[in-house]
Amino acid sequence: MTALLQTAKTDPSFIYALRGVTEAAARAAYDWIGRGDKHQGDLAGVEAMRAALNALPVGGTVVIGEGEKDEAPALYNGETVGDPYADCQCDIAVDPVEGTSYLAKGMTNAMAVIAMSPRGTMFDPGPAFYMEKFAGPPAVRGKIDPKAPVADKLKVLSDALGKPVSELTVYVLEKPRHKELVAQIHAAGARVALYPAGDVAGALMAAIPESGIDALMGTGGTPEGVISACAIRLLGGEFLGRLDPQLPTEIIAVRNAGMDTEHWQGVEELISSDQVYFCATGITTGLLFDGVERSRTHEKTQTLMISGPKGERQILTTWHPDIRAV
Ligand code: FBP
Repeated sequence: MTALLQTAKTDPSFIYALRGVTEAAARAAYDWIGRGDKHQGDLAGVEAMRAALNALPVGGTVVIGEGEKDEAPALYNGETVGDPYADCQCDIAVDPVEGTSYLAKGMTNAMAVIAMSPRGTMFDPGPAFYMEKFAGPPAVRGKIDPKAPVADKLKVLSDALGKPVSELTVYVLEKPRHKELVAQIHAAGARVALYPAGDVAGALMAAIPESGIDALMGTGGTPEGVISACAIRLLGGEFLGRLDPQLPTEIIAVRNAGMDTEHWQGVEELISSDQVYFCATGITTGLLFDGVERSRTHEKTQTLMISGPKGERQILTTWHPDIRAV
């Protein structure tokens, strides 16, 4: 990866250009908050994100899209965006609307997300839609055995953070498949924060010390897993993932593709470069940042921007005067 890295190394404003991509998606999706239509909200986010990506002075291949699992109007895997002749070619992971149900129901925590890295550095999950995940703060990096019992993982976390297990909070998606996991966390004495959707936010919070979330456990989307790994690689936290197909067709496809469902991939296997750029813009107000606000004169956005290799983290509030007519 040449130009993007050089550009970004010498020009810290690259992350500001990238942030325009998630802001465009969030602002377009805003129109669909609370209208009961996941599909249209996603479509608006996708189209705005695609247009913004095509305006960037880099070429990109979508390695992580999200369309196939939900038959959403994806930026599909393998789609190329931007300038195909640019020196700089990169891998792109996108989720124009992370939390489509939150968006449709007018709930908190919907966001638009992108991660970008040098071409060939992101894990391509192929037909694997689901992944079992562990995310935690920098203090546990390299210390967690993902195959160990839940209570053992919590003990490692407790020792590393210097707080009792009873004061740990684990973010878990509220799904029937997690009944046993939740019981094990409770049995160990820790708290569980159950959310119906949105494990990118959970993974990010787990990797950010003092966020109120100490770890993320359980199975969620593979695309969301790779996106989380990109951010967490920059943040210096821990992310471990194991392909965990749930759907009958997915189980067969993963088996036919010869993919290993036993192996836990570390953060550096999921994203093999530290030259990663990550942006997430709130659509509805969430745990990490505010959502889009529209007034008669402006639209306001908040974007979390993380860039490598040092993992500098900023939240940028922008007042956009170019409000679209409503
Ligand atoms: P969407 O934005 O596609 O609705 O995904 C939200 C999400 O909750 C992710 O955060 C999570 O990784 C995944 O869905 C879990 O999938 P499922 O709801 O099928 O268990």
